[in-house]
Amino acid sequence: MIPEGIAYGGDYNPEQWPEEVWAEDVRLMREAGVNMVSVNIFAWALLEPREGEYDFTRLDKILGLLHENGIAADLATPTAAPPAWFFRKHPEALPVDKDGRRLSYGSRQTFCPSSPAYREAALRITGAVAARYADHPAVVMWHIHNEYGCHNAECHCDVSAASFRRWLRSRYGDLAALNDAWGTTFWSQWYYDWDEIIPPRATGAVPNPTHQLDWRRFCSDELLSLYKAEREVLREAAPSVPATTNFMVMYNFDALDYWRWAPELDFVSNDHYLRSTDPESEIDIALSGDIVRSLAGGPWLLMEHSTGAVNWQPVNRAKTAGELRRNALAHVARGADGIAYFQWRAAKAGAEQWHSAMLPHAGTDSQIWRDVVALGADLKALAEVRGSSSPASVAVAWDWNARWALELPSQPSESVRYLDVVRSWYEPLWRSGVAVDFVHPSADLSQYRLVLAPALYLVDDASAANLTGFAAGGGTLAVGFHSGAVDANCHIRLGGYPGAFRETLGVSTDEVFPLLPGETLSLDGGGTASLWSERVRLAGAEAVTSYGSGPLTGVPAVTRHTYGDGTAWYLATHPDPGTLAGLLDRIRTEAGVEPVRETPEGVEAVLRRGEDADYLFLINHGEGDASVQVAERATELLTARSIEGGLVTVAPGDVVVVREAR
Ligand code: GLA
Repeated sequence: MIPEGIAYGGDYNPEQWPEEVWAEDVRLMREAGVNMVSVNIFAWALLEPREGEYDFTRLDKILGLLHENGIAADLATPTAAPPAWFFRKHPEALPVDKDGRRLSYGSRQTFCPSSPAYREAALRITGAVAARYADHPAVVMWHIHNEYGCHNAECHCDVSAASFRRWLRSRYGDLAALNDAWGTTFWSQWYYDWDEIIPPRATGAVPNPTHQLDWRRFCSDELLSLYKAEREVLREAAPSVPATTNFMVMYNFDALDYWRWAPELDFVSNDHYLRSTDPESEIDIALSGDIVRSLAGGPWLLMEHSTGAVNWQPVNRAKTAGELRRNALAHVARGADGIAYFQWRAAKAGAEQWHSAMLPHAGTDSQIWRDVVALGADLKALAEVRGSSSPASVAVAWDWNARWALELPSQPSESVRYLDVVRSWYEPLWRSGVAVDFVHPSADLSQYRLVLAPALYLVDDASAANLTGFAAGGGTLAVGFHSGAVDANCHIRLGGYPGAFRETLGVSTDEVFPLLPGETLSLDGGGTASLWSERVRLAGAEAVTSYGSGPLTGVPAVTRHTYGDGTAWYLATHPDPGTLAGLLDRIRTEAGVEPVRETPEGVEAVLRRGEDADYLFLINHGEGDASVQVAERATELLTARSIEGGLVTVAPGDVVVVREAR
């Protein structure tokens, strides 16, 4: 298992450096308090110079060196970057894009996920690594592959097509069921033979939506089957070493249905990078952390983030003073029990030579290095936080199927983006310090008072019943526009929108009126709406606010319905941030949901709950000193000072972690 306390480290790629450098590496790791590094992630070509011939000399030395220095290894299977010799022998294992173009090797993760040759080679090198290092004392965890699907989430080759058909056969059993699910009477798309079915390759007009949706499900499952195959090999060799693979729960990646992946991991880990253009990336960190913690069902590991700039955005912004520390501790606040970076030492050569690292090009006489050393001390001081939980009484329904379906072409509006809608609802909760979990729509909701379904365009029948049952049983359910519109097959739920939730919400919509970019409508309680409107008719609900301008003047825009023992809200439009914040404040207050702590504006408050103490993380994103009320018997963990008078001051840009005895 990962080391005691909070794990600290990063990707370590010593194979990119002469051996003389390694001694300095471990010396500096110790200086910074690094206790775990991920090794071997991209070392396949060096480990297996020719098919079936291995050279473990270098890795033996590296693992030995780490162990001698008390640094644990998260040992990777190097399968994300097959060597050139493999592709020369198996050019058919290179992936094909939707335009039929076969890609070339010379980078990384450029292989067809369905390729039998790739699978065989990947399992062979995995088996060799497992056999050699299963009992190595440095190895505490397996890091399987790297960021599955980052560059090759889909391949449209004929081999993939055959695998897709096998997946479809097991989903549908017979062609009649598939034709029905895909609605193939439309545009003469009827299939008479399984072999007629191909991936949704580039076509002249819009492809079938269910075809595309099933393709995304298949692509996620196909990569998952590769993960599972490697995990089985590792499990057999080393049953007690836990396995992880680094997820990418961050704004731009949506290829994998992590609800299906998470149960297959012994420990969930995630990579998170900031978007240079996001002025409030602290909200993205929180959102991602809350999703990952929810996937993990508890603490998780931050496998990668950056000390400074990345190298893959149009302009790669460095972090400002204090940002490295705030970012890392914000991940801990959201449940991370380990903090790691890409990467340990900044590369001199290769495609990532302009990516920041823990040890920058400038060496130790650098701000980043000083920050890295200081963070090591902070994380050491937080050791007792490890394993603590994160109580929440609000859940946001989150589903990759809904995300994929909502963003298919030929929607009422292509401006409606899943993550944007979810984040717009999440932001006001974040600002008020309300703790939030994310749940699959079919999850047990009994621990929550309030469930939000901001963009649940697609919902299957069981999940719909789960959510409406939650309201009927006394919970508060708030549903966002265009939710519940289609079923699991992406078929419209007939009889009026928002299909699955119509009765629970006590409304019925006969027509939607999406708004043009920049267009706004006034709301009669004040504020404006953008993006979306609907001709909502009340069918039991009361109107909370209605449109004050435009073609739907007087039509309800937000409604509230008493349903069973609970309450169901419908936000049939996208209110401006202030109005949305006001609404969500009212909704959660009525539902009896309190913030973890009242804080001045700009101060993020997050709670982790230990066995005999609460850990209150206070992060000041604002520009002035902020005072926060804490418990009588409290200590400041990072400075080990006891807090007098139940009041703590957080300087601008600072982070304070308060241990409150219970
Ligand atoms: C990903 C990869 C790393 C590295 C970083 C750079 O997260 O897993 O290998 O490429 O991006 O940001």
